[in-house]
Parts: sequence; C-alpha cells; structure tokens
Amino acid sequence: MTRTRTSLLAALALVAAASGTALTTTPATAAPAAVPCTVDYTVQNQWDTGFTAAVTVINNTAAKSSWSVKWSYAGNQQVTSGWNARISQSGSSVTAASESYNGGLATGGSVSFGFNASYSGSNALPTAFTLDGVTCNVDDGTGGGGGSGGGTGGGRVGNPYAGAKVYVNPEWSAKAAAEPGGSRVSNQPTGVWLDRIAAINGVNGGMGLRDHLDAALAQKGSGQEVVQLVVYDLPGRDCSALASNGELGPTEIDKYRTQFIDPIAAILADPKYASLRIVTAIEIDSLPNLVTNTGSRATATDMCNTMLANGNYVKGVGYALAKLGAIPNVYNYLDAGHHGWLGWDDNFAASANMFKQAATSEGATVGDVQGFITNTANFSALKEDNFTVDDSVNGTSVRQSTWVDWNRYADELSFAQAFRSELVSVGFDSGIGMLIDTSRNGWGGTARPTGPGPRTSVDTYVDGGRYDRRIHVGNWCNQAGAGLGERPQADPAPGIDAYVWMKPPGESDGSSTAIANNEGKGFDRMCDPTYTGNARNNYHMSGALPDAPLAGHWFSAQFQQLMRNAYPPLS
Ligand code: GLC
Repeated sequence: MTRTRTSLLAALALVAAASGTALTTTPATAAPAAVPCTVDYTVQNQWDTGFTAAVTVINNTAAKSSWSVKWSYAGNQQVTSGWNARISQSGSSVTAASESYNGGLATGGSVSFGFNASYSGSNALPTAFTLDGVTCNVDDGTGGGGGSGGGTGGGRVGNPYAGAKVYVNPEWSAKAAAEPGGSRVSNQPTGVWLDRIAAINGVNGGMGLRDHLDAALAQKGSGQEVVQLVVYDLPGRDCSALASNGELGPTEIDKYRTQFIDPIAAILADPKYASLRIVTAIEIDSLPNLVTNTGSRATATDMCNTMLANGNYVKGVGYALAKLGAIPNVYNYLDAGHHGWLGWDDNFAASANMFKQAATSEGATVGDVQGFITNTANFSALKEDNFTVDDSVNGTSVRQSTWVDWNRYADELSFAQAFRSELVSVGFDSGIGMLIDTSRNGWGGTARPTGPGPRTSVDTYVDGGRYDRRIHVGNWCNQAGAGLGERPQADPAPGIDAYVWMKPPGESDGSSTAIANNEGKGFDRMCDPTYTGNARNNYHMSGALPDAPLAGHWFSAQFQQLMRNAYPPLS
C-alpha cells in the first residue's frame, strides 16, 4: 500500500540534511532483587512433532560478560536449532550459552533466546533453570496477566521494546508455519492490523482485539511484552492508490471516531491489559499523502486533495493520538513514509510540519507521540553499503543518478535518523524513537550485489551496487525480488527503538487483477505486472508479482520469495 512521490526535480533546494543524533534508551526491565534470576520459558508454537520456545532470563546478580542457562526435560524433547544462544543438549540436559554479541548482561538486565525442538507425547515444561549454576525463579509463561511481577506500574518507559518480548500473532504464525520452510520465521512478531471496524471483534470468526491482548498476556509470562497494533481505517483511506481503499467514505469522520477509535480505546484502557506495552502504528501513508500528492503537483490525486481540503485525515489522526495517548501503557508511533517518499528536500520539512499539525489537533499534543515508524509495508533497503549520496563519479554526484534522483538519502536507516532530528526540531519530544519496518526490505538472494557498480557513470555505479532492486523507488506493490529484512530487534541503532515486522510478510499489497470484494478494496494497477506506471513512479513498470490476491490476503508465492531472498539469509 505504500507509495511515494517522485522526481519533482528537487535540485533547487539546498536544505542541509539533519544528522542523526544518539538517543539514550532506558535500561531493560528493573527486577525485584529477591531472587538471583528469573526465567520465562514460553512455548510459542507447537505442532504434533515439534515446538518453538522462547526463553527470557532476567539477571539480578552482578553484571556478567557471558552466561549459561541450563535446564532438563522430563520427556524426549530434543533441541534442533536455536538463535541468540549456542544451545547444546546431552541426554535430557540442555545448555544455552551466550553468543559473542549478547554475553553482556547487566544487573536487572534481561536476555532472550529461542529454539525449535522435536518431541512426542506431552511437551511438559521444564521445572528448574540455572543461570551460571545458580537456581532461578521460574515463570512458565502460563500465568494470567495484570497481576504480580512485570507490570509497568506508572509511566511509560523510553523505549517500549527494550528488554521486552514482542507478541507473536498466532494467526499469522500459523499461516507462516504452514508454508514449506515457514517454521524458520513463524515465531517472529508481526503487526496486528485493525484495518476495519469489524477487526475489533474479529473478521470471519478470527481473533478480535481482546483475543490478541489475552493471547499477549499469556505470552508475556513474568517479563515485559510489546503488542503491535496498526490503526488503519481513516475516512477516504489510501487516497493516492486504490488497493487499500477502506470502508469509510471521505466524510465519515464521526463514524471513525465513535465506531473505530473509541471502541479500540475502551478495550486498550481495560485495566486487565495495563501490564502490556501497547505500540500503535497510526494510519499508514495518510499524512505523507497530504504533503506529496496534493495541490497542483503532477503526483496529486483528487481523493488526496479532497482529504486535504476536508481535514479529515488530520482530524482523524489527531483524534486517534489524543484518545489512545491518554492510555498510559499505549505508545503511539505515527507513520512517516519512507526515504524514497519523504527524503526529497521539498517533502522532508513539509512532512514534519504536517505531522506536528496533526499531533496538535483534536486535543492531541506532541506528548501523545512516542515516535514514528518508517518503511511500513514498503521495500526500501535498510542500509546501502555500496554507495552513499555523497559519492561522485567522474565529477558527477550520485544524487544525479536516475535511481537517487536528487534524494538526500540512499537508504532507510540514514533517513529515519535524520528525520528524527527534524521532528525534534519542529517540536516533538527529544526522546522520540523511530521504528523501521524491515519485514520485506532484505534484498538478498543470488542477485544481491557484492560490491559497488563500475565507475563508468553515476548510473552504472549506483545500479550495479544497490541492494534495492526495484525498477523505481516509487514501486510499492508485491515487489519482485524482495526478501525478508532484519529480524525484529530492539535498539538496533542510535535513535531507532526497534526494527519491526509491522507488515506481516506473506500478506498481499493488492490484487494484480480486479477482484470483486466487500472490503472496500479497489484494483490498483501498480499491482499489475504489465502496468507501465504513473506520475508517482515516474512512469516505470510496476515491478509487481503476478497472480496476487486482494490486499491483506495470504500470498504464498510472495512469502516463498521473501524467504528465498531473505537478508540476512535464513539458516
Ligand atoms: C493492506 C490491506 C489491509 C491489511 C494490511 C496488512 O494494507 O489493505 O487489509 O490488513 O495490508 O497486510
């Protein structure tokens, strides 16, 4: 669903790109000192012959530079592969030792690792764990929520992802696990999309919001748990495209308030859920569209001009921020497009100002915004190592290449960090953090360049070296060649709260031919591989995969491609 503006010959502006500044995040979970360590062992996913488990250890003794956790099984469980720890098994005894990169474990700090295992019969939980030989307090992850241990108590923490697990959506997980090879990623956390009013109670007998929050409490155990919700149902939704048009017409702002945001807020405010850290990604693509696809620009659409004129995107976002921001354990992250959309000088500052306007309307304040999310459901590469926008070839700047086209940013990380500074400069809190959706920006596989392109021209140099292999950076629908990106992780870089998989990999961006439906979704030709493009992708081929189902529906061929082209690769 994400799209971009494109080459508005931004050669004129000379705005200096803001540089990223370091953001300090709060330390991980503060834990009670009574027990030397606490272990949360959670079976996240189980089938008849195997299971996936996640283990989180909280250390309450002196800080460590390496660690080893041991337990034993009563049954025939056998670990087959692990991550974020070196796991070995002898008979029924298992040892999980720190990796070189996660040996540091502060007092009060926590570390998580996971593994797949086989079993038969019952999969009884281990009953005792040690950390470096010292017996820990066990939490088996089956306790209810809201009670003792792990509640957030009062205010928000600086980075909700620090020291926390993130909710694995069982519905997405089951679809991923059902794919050949899918169990390699099916235990990853993904966003839960509230993409229509009916999603609050569950569509077609599926899980509703309370079901997800209840399941999150069960996954939480005694640790901290983030739940990621995408709030996505604005009036006149998806104004520059058709694939994710929604159920509400352009004037239905009251319905949005009373039948969508209010019921969501009522559920999130239930004290039962007070111990969860609820991350909300607010209204993907909406405000960027008001900046880049309006007025007399070649990229403008009638619907975006309508939504700018009637103010209902700004009002809806302001209302959502105010209502949800009033709940102390909700963390609002406003959608901020991606570098190949807002990274041009004529969009960058204007977008920051638009976000400020929305965040100060309908009773919202900048204090209701804990951060921003970039690249949601898009494909922009996280880091381009083989060129930078400061390079030049034969005296010509890389910014003049067809691919970069005067953009200030070649990749998503540099954009997100610089945009964070810009947002602070227009008045957002200096502690805001960024999320980057890395669900589909991996660009690995056999076609991944291994070094810079030849220095024949800026185009050969950039095109030969870039990881992002889209035909045009404005292409957004089911991109051919894309792979899974960085696995979700907290605090990966200065200013970045987390890499997340907000778009559930395997869910389509839009159908490649018209498909009748009752979801309000249209047919956007950017999802048709034979389409030759429009002003928003500067009239390039769409680069979309064929045979795609409606937006949000499972697209097996895309999921298989994403696994094949994962970067980092799947083991
Ligand atoms: C698209 C769809 C929406 C779906 C989402 C996540 O935006 O329009 O229905 O929930 O993608 O896959």
